[in-house]
Amino acid sequence: MSERKVRVAIVGLGFGAEFIPIYQHHPDAEMVAVCRRDEAGVNACADKFNIAKRYTRYEDVLNDPDIDAVHINSPIPDHGPQTIAALNAGKHVACTVPMATEKSQIEEIVKLQRATGLVYMMMETVVYAREYLFAKGMYDRGELGRIQFLRGSHQQDMDGWPNYWPGLPPMWYATHCVSPCLGILSTPGKPALASSVVCHGSGRIREELIPKYGSPFAVQSATFKIHGSDVVAEVTRSLFDTARQYRESFDVTASDVSFEWQQLEGEEPVLHTRGLQEAKIPRRVPVPDYADRLPEPIRKFTGAIHDATHLSFVQGGGHGGSHPHLAHNFLMAVLGKQPAFPDAPTSANYTLVGLCAHESATAGGTRVEIPQY
Ligand SMILES: NC(=O)c1ccc[n+]([C@@H]2O[C@H](COP(=O)([O-])OP(=O)(O)OC[C@H]3O[C@@H](n4cnc5c(N)ncnc54)[C@H](O)[C@@H]3O)[C@@H](O)[C@H]2O)c1
Repeated sequence: MSERKVRVAIVGLGFGAEFIPIYQHHPDAEMVAVCRRDEAGVNACADKFNIAKRYTRYEDVLNDPDIDAVHINSPIPDHGPQTIAALNAGKHVACTVPMATEKSQIEEIVKLQRATGLVYMMMETVVYAREYLFAKGMYDRGELGRIQFLRGSHQQDMDGWPNYWPGLPPMWYATHCVSPCLGILSTPGKPALASSVVCHGSGRIREELIPKYGSPFAVQSATFKIHGSDVVAEVTRSLFDTARQYRESFDVTASDVSFEWQQLEGEEPVLHTRGLQEAKIPRRVPVPDYADRLPEPIRKFTGAIHDATHLSFVQGGGHGGSHPHLAHNFLMAVLGKQPAFPDAPTSANYTLVGLCAHESATAGGTRVEIPQY
């Protein structure tokens, strides 16, 4: 495989379409096919990006021997079954978050990935966002000192979004706030993993939103323990009937310097330095885009441009400039040049924190042990 380019198909062309020009510009990728169910939609997208192969049936993508890897960006309930089918068909898989919505699917994906040796990577944007990379770099260089506590939040109003969203338990889509808390404590080859979780549900969404998933909670707040660490992390999620500007945040409380994500979009994060001198009062810090970690042709896709609603991002600039980093890491993993991050067992843990948190909230806040792989 390392001799030639990775031939990629993208499945799901809403958010998924943002990755097309990145693969087209990457020196080790060939953007060979796109797939969505609607024929007019798939043709419009393929025409725009000049892609020859267009599919409306996912099975046909999997049966195409010219495709090495699928990048799945379909609706949330499809992620698990589509990943399982792709691994069974011998394709490498990149899949947007979350990994799946059922524990049994997650277990099957991990087993299949191990049995086949194929690459699986959950395309978690936050662990490649510039703010996360900045905090991670400071921690790895010893500049933060000892981490004492971690906090993530992901608040988003999903009213008006496609039909699989209304009533979705917030913690079923918790990877954006869970993953940075675990990622920062990880070292190469040794991911930090959550062991157990306690979660409370708070408030109540509109009655008509509740029946689909049987989840009444407006907000879910979880604390989880981490294997081999005395640090506890707290994460907060909301999806409906909660007034808050879109926010995916990550705070690190540490002994020497603490990092706090900006309060509002467009601001810079804040560093708090321990000490008494006036020079050590909190200060805002600009964060770099880390484009130098990428092949030159895709560096431009880290640009921080998004529209005023924060709902639709200009290609490549969204989610903290993470998209080209994700595509690059996935391609390097398929070529055997570096491991996928997060890989299958790590993605399982990140996703299971949320699924187990919802179980805990439904049971009134009991501790739930997280299955380990
Ligand atoms: N920061 C992030 O990581 C991030 C951001 C946005 C969206 N997402 C994820 O991306 C996914 C898609 O989000 P979206 O807003 O584009 O959703 P969407 O519903 O607008 O688009 C889904 C796409 O999948 C296609 N599709 C549906 N079923 C399919 C099937 N069986 N086979 C092939 N294609 C199929 C649809 O035609 C459509 O193109 C969601 O899972 C969402 O959670 C992640």
